[in-house]
Amino acid sequence: MRAVIAPEPGGPEALVLTERPDPEPGPGEVLVEVAATAVNRADLLQRRGFYPPPPGASDVLGLECSGTVAALGEGVAEAGRWAVGDEVCALLAGGGYATHVVVPAGQLMPLPPGVDLVTAAALPEVACTVWSNVVTVGGLASGDTFLVHGGAGGIGTFAIQLASALGARVFTTAGSAEKRAFCEELGAERAIDYREEDFVAVLREAGGADVVLDNMGAKYLARNVDALATEGRLVVIGMQGGAKGELDLGRLLTKRASVHATSLRARPVEEKTAICAAVADHVWPLVGSGAVRPIVHATLPLDRAAEAHGLLEESSHSGKVLLTPQ
Ligand SMILES: NC(=O)c1ccc[n+]([C@@H]2O[C@H](COP(=O)([O-])OP(=O)(O)OC[C@H]3O[C@@H](n4cnc5c(N)ncnc54)[C@H](OP(=O)(O)O)[C@@H]3O)[C@@H](O)[C@H]2O)c1
Repeated sequence: MRAVIAPEPGGPEALVLTERPDPEPGPGEVLVEVAATAVNRADLLQRRGFYPPPPGASDVLGLECSGTVAALGEGVAEAGRWAVGDEVCALLAGGGYATHVVVPAGQLMPLPPGVDLVTAAALPEVACTVWSNVVTVGGLASGDTFLVHGGAGGIGTFAIQLASALGARVFTTAGSAEKRAFCEELGAERAIDYREEDFVAVLREAGGADVVLDNMGAKYLARNVDALATEGRLVVIGMQGGAKGELDLGRLLTKRASVHATSLRARPVEEKTAICAAVADHVWPLVGSGAVRPIVHATLPLDRAAEAHGLLEESSHSGKVLLTPQ
């Protein structure tokens, strides 16, 4: 197969397209012929040497894909869920930037209704991350107030739409007027200019956030806690603003609020299986109805992976950047 790796840490030019033997599915695994994969911010960190694959995962980059089932490992046919030729999308621990990838059968999902095979690669990572953090951990319910930072990014564009579809009031932050307008088109009541405006003041005026989904970590920790409503939940999924901050427990306990932090990639297969099943059951119908749609900024061939990483690094994108290996 052809695959993209980062043998030495570095900038986008450190990515190398190489040849590898085709992987073989082990017990409970499936071989997928990849139609498309998508670039995640974690891939940029992995390329720079800061985010090694979890033990046992492929060193090939890529945390999600869409494609066609090409072979079944032991026990998968017997389970009766997947067959050779099925069109699927998948959450991966690695290996998506390739023509073929092996994935635990539980991490496969059917294509959401009405989404074509290539575009489906835009959904697994954002759908699983947003569902598991905003709904399962954060407990977002209809009528709640929700703040997601970085509303124009891959996670943000999905989170705005999902939270709106679930009946929440949605607030977000974005860096440019164009991106803020796009976030409001997607369903945000108000997109806040994170360079010029105080998101805490905006959220306070709205009564506080019941759930905050945060990509900034340390830099926003104190202000995110300030933006929470009584019994609000802050869920940190990114550390773009650093890992070590100061948490004022006094502020937290008077609000009876909570702070959570999670990472999807290193979770056990059983947990990812449960998340994928919940996404297929609860999120795919919203995609099918048009309430939530995949947002694709650009689709590039796999040999232009460096250019795709550049788009995320400059933050010139809105939504997802896809790579097609065929
Ligand atoms: N823990 C997990 O399991 C998990 C899973 C998936 C993703 N993540 C994390 O989630 C985050 C978003 O991922 P992604 O794929 O959506 O990446 P992305 O598309 O590159 O989005 C990153 C976003 O960060 C925003 N941003 C930059 N500086 C900001 C600031 N000071 N205040 C508010 N927003 C700011 C950017 O907004 P502008 O473009 O408007 O400047 C951009 O929308 C990343 O940190 C990623 O590592 C975590």
